Amino acid sequence: MSKSLFRRKSVEKILADVASGFSDAEHPGTASHLKKELNVKDLTLMGIAAVVGAGIFSTIGEAAFNGGPGVTFLFIITAITCGFSAMCYAEFASRIPVAGSAYTYAYASFGELIAWIIGWDLLMEYAIGNIAVAISWSEYFVNLLEGFHIHMPGYLTMDYFSAFTAHEKIQQLTTSGNLAEITDRLKVAAAAWANAPGIGNFKLIANIPALGIVFIITYLVYVGIRETKRATNAMVYLKIAIVIAVIAIGFFYVTPANWHPFLPNGFGGVMKGVSGVFFAYIGFDAISTTAEECENPQRDLPRGMIYSLIICTVLYILISLVLTGMVNYKNLQVGDPLAYVFAKVGLKNISYIISISAVIATASVLLIFQLGQPRIWMSMSRDGLLPKAFSRIHPKFHTPSFATVVTGFVVAIPALFLNLTEVTNLTSIGTLFAFVLVCGGVLLLPREEAVKGKFHLPYINSQWIVPVLFIAGVIFFNDKILNLFNGTNAHERFPYFLFILLSATLTVLSFIKKLSLIPVLGLLSCFYLMSELEYESWIRFLAWLVIGLVIYFTYGYKHSVIAKENKAAVK
Ligand code: ALA
Repeated sequence: MSKSLFRRKSVEKILADVASGFSDAEHPGTASHLKKELNVKDLTLMGIAAVVGAGIFSTIGEAAFNGGPGVTFLFIITAITCGFSAMCYAEFASRIPVAGSAYTYAYASFGELIAWIIGWDLLMEYAIGNIAVAISWSEYFVNLLEGFHIHMPGYLTMDYFSAFTAHEKIQQLTTSGNLAEITDRLKVAAAAWANAPGIGNFKLIANIPALGIVFIITYLVYVGIRETKRATNAMVYLKIAIVIAVIAIGFFYVTPANWHPFLPNGFGGVMKGVSGVFFAYIGFDAISTTAEECENPQRDLPRGMIYSLIICTVLYILISLVLTGMVNYKNLQVGDPLAYVFAKVGLKNISYIISISAVIATASVLLIFQLGQPRIWMSMSRDGLLPKAFSRIHPKFHTPSFATVVTGFVVAIPALFLNLTEVTNLTSIGTLFAFVLVCGGVLLLPREEAVKGKFHLPYINSQWIVPVLFIAGVIFFNDKILNLFNGTNAHERFPYFLFILLSATLTVLSFIKKLSLIPVLGLLSCFYLMSELEYESWIRFLAWLVIGLVIYFTYGYKHSVIAKENKAAVK
């Protein structure tokens, strides 16, 4: 049993399957090839389309509120972390240019069980991530409608939990006499609760715009990759132009005094924003799911990922400086920080334009994630780990039709009811875990010589660098390490303890085995960011993984194509 859990699919077999169009007895009806439409420019634009969205338009606000202007450091740290992971994704994408992203990569390096875990985890990244983006889209969209004097009832534009907690909080603040703490946001949510139809605490409160946008985007993805590409390119040009305009105009309104102190709440305050800031970077990896639709995936996919990451990093660092320079960081705990700061300095029209662009920007993120997700379902189904319907390709549109429709429902229905912060946290932890496995997977790949026209991860010997970094880390964090299990809620620091263990192990392995430096640093930096996330997110994430394991052992383990092939070979 234990051996079969780690049964692997060789890179040669993966490539041969794709070349044959999966046209064997195991995959009737899936033999149509996907269309090869994408070049490096499209991929870079798709990368930016997936990255610049709810993170920079929404979740940056909370992160800047906690970290002050120093949140800029977090954007740099996170970019470096993502950079290492992007290089590892690029290495895999160049060796295994097949849809399925990290799932397929893990199948080749770690074997089936870990591949399933990562595939299941990617579904969480894409599905829960898109729920978050749809909720954020809805918030900006409703603001925009207000600008046109169109008012939707509050109970049709938010989730039940937010309305209920706002109602409770206002009652509490009123009873305790803290009326000054009742913000406009709280009032709107509480009014939604009060006006919602229903009986007692059973009320009809649901985010209808979030549902609507997911259905529209799913339709677009269903009808074809070319249509998706055109829509994406147009949206991306517009959103980059707006982001650059925000930076350029915003710089004239910066008051340098707002940057002092740069770290008002210390490094701890900055690290509170990990989830929101990391969320802003998620997406460059999503383009690896389109490998079978690229003209030259081995050359273009790595470039597309790395170019989009570099462009987004520069934009983000500048935006975080502008944002925290325009107003005091204490004002930034709002859902629409970019629009807010411009309104605050008296530029209402610009604030309005930003709201329009946020609606466009977040829609394009939705588009890419809705595109990526069915392709992962499809890869898992081709391997027999999910039912065959998920790998069915539409005869006319050449898209994974059934998987696309399922994706639409899986995202749209929860988007009606869930709360933004919780889904953001869950997306960040799930994505970081995928990055950890991709970096770890690269360490298991046999070394290959560089081939012209194909991306190749440069080998740098980690033998001395990693031990030196480890010692520097121990000195820098000595206080935190020594007090790890002191004080209350010590169990909540268990993830950090795991990080220390992993670092020590990798330091020894690097020294003995001269591991490749980039994946080691990628693995460590991603795990470090994971260890900074809330304990509750870890628990929820583990619960998701357990559900996945139950599905694997009751379905995938028995239906795995590799398992059947192995059995046939034994006979
Ligand atoms: N990075 C994407 C966004 O910020 C998920 O919307």
